Amino acid sequence: MPAPRIKSPHLLVAESGADREGHGLKRTMGLFQLICFGVGAIVGTGIFVGLSDSVAQAGPAVVVSFVLAAITCVFTAFSFAELGGAIPVSGSSYSFAYAGLGESTAFLVGWCLLLEYGISISAVAVGWSQYVNELLHSVAGVQLPAALSAGPGDGGIINLPAVIVIAMASVLLVRGVRESARATAAMAAVKLVILLAFCAVGYSAFKHGNLTPFSPAGLGGIGAGTTAAFFSYIGFDAITTAGEEAKNPRRDIPVAIMVCMGLVTLLYCAVALAAIGAIGGKGVAGRPAALSYVVNEVTGSAVGGGVIAFGAVVAIASVVLAVMYGQTRILMSMSRDGLIPRVFEKVNPKTATPVAGTLIVAAVFALPAAFASLDAVMNLCTIGTLAIMAVVNIAVIALRRREPGLVRSFRVPLYPVVPLLGVAFCLYLMYETGWGTWLQFAVFLVVGLLIYYGYGRRRSTLATAAPEVTASAAAEREPQAV
Ligand code: ALA
Repeated sequence: MPAPRIKSPHLLVAESGADREGHGLKRTMGLFQLICFGVGAIVGTGIFVGLSDSVAQAGPAVVVSFVLAAITCVFTAFSFAELGGAIPVSGSSYSFAYAGLGESTAFLVGWCLLLEYGISISAVAVGWSQYVNELLHSVAGVQLPAALSAGPGDGGIINLPAVIVIAMASVLLVRGVRESARATAAMAAVKLVILLAFCAVGYSAFKHGNLTPFSPAGLGGIGAGTTAAFFSYIGFDAITTAGEEAKNPRRDIPVAIMVCMGLVTLLYCAVALAAIGAIGGKGVAGRPAALSYVVNEVTGSAVGGGVIAFGAVVAIASVVLAVMYGQTRILMSMSRDGLIPRVFEKVNPKTATPVAGTLIVAAVFALPAAFASLDAVMNLCTIGTLAIMAVVNIAVIALRRREPGLVRSFRVPLYPVVPLLGVAFCLYLMYETGWGTWLQFAVFLVVGLLIYYGYGRRRSTLATAAPEVTASAAAEREPQAV
């Protein structure tokens, strides 16, 4: 068997200019912006829309599901923090896999990132559409016709609001990172305030009796609830895609990841308890726009629900924005490596953003947003993300062995137990997604392999560049400690 084509972390860092201005991108993001960006990427459809699905599976024990999903993510977040600090380039898990496990695994990770980022853009946009209708209903007493606000799988023809939010995010992203970061920070603030206000309303009507029976479907229900709750954490790794636009990526990226995970886990548990404590698990389970419903029930008026719907519209839009940003930066890295067409790496000198790449991403993922149902895309997104997370944990171990001297501004604690536990948790949750999802995922991976062997492998810069060129690029700039 030929040795895997590995890309040295030094070369990745040197090529991207990770310790200086990189490839036309500007270093504008400090720690605060990175945290806002993280919250922006994480908190959205999962809590505002998906909570009712998780509660349907686990009942009040959904709180345990949220904690288990968070633990899975935190194990992996340590690995992301170590690798994001050591290899601060915009390719995120794709680049980490390239350095740790080789090109074919990296390509497959990049391919799966189309599920984690691309398909989640579509899924999140579909969730946005639900709350737009709820907002219209509470503000003006009208709703968009089902034909124009849902795909064929959900009884409509085309989901126009979902397409519109993707189009708006792409316009903002094309204009510039500073503008997008500002918008994301403002939106992150709005959603935090709205969710805290929701908690205040929910706890004002809290009844202990609503928490019993605590786990109506037992351990199986908690497991299924964990898989459903996992979607609400997807996006924490998007922080690592800002490696080339962060002012001090080696210090700030690990800190931002950890702060975001802590904040978001507390918030989700508080929201779930408030919702169930107020109206009971049965009231929340399977309910569209569930948080608005809870507030309407508690306050007895539609105004509070309207405010929550407004918060959800803002929150979910910010996820679309942040995740789309991440997707374009990953494609940029893959394109720079020659594994996909060069158009994705082109940065417009005026806006300092990858304009063509952004517009292509928007156009491609607007299609599932317009025509697919939320459930169909959520599971695929979840299994793809879990697979990537498992690979990132393995990449930490591989890189510790291969590159013991690499500068690491953050190190995974209790190594190698934590990354191995991360792999185990990911595999368990993947198992919980069910065989139908596994089958779709297997087909998706086979298509990815065919593209890699048919296109990427031959055009890879590692295959085409003279060895002395790559060696001198790596030598040009070694990573520096902070
Ligand atoms: N975690 C993101 C959301 O819940 C994908 O919208």
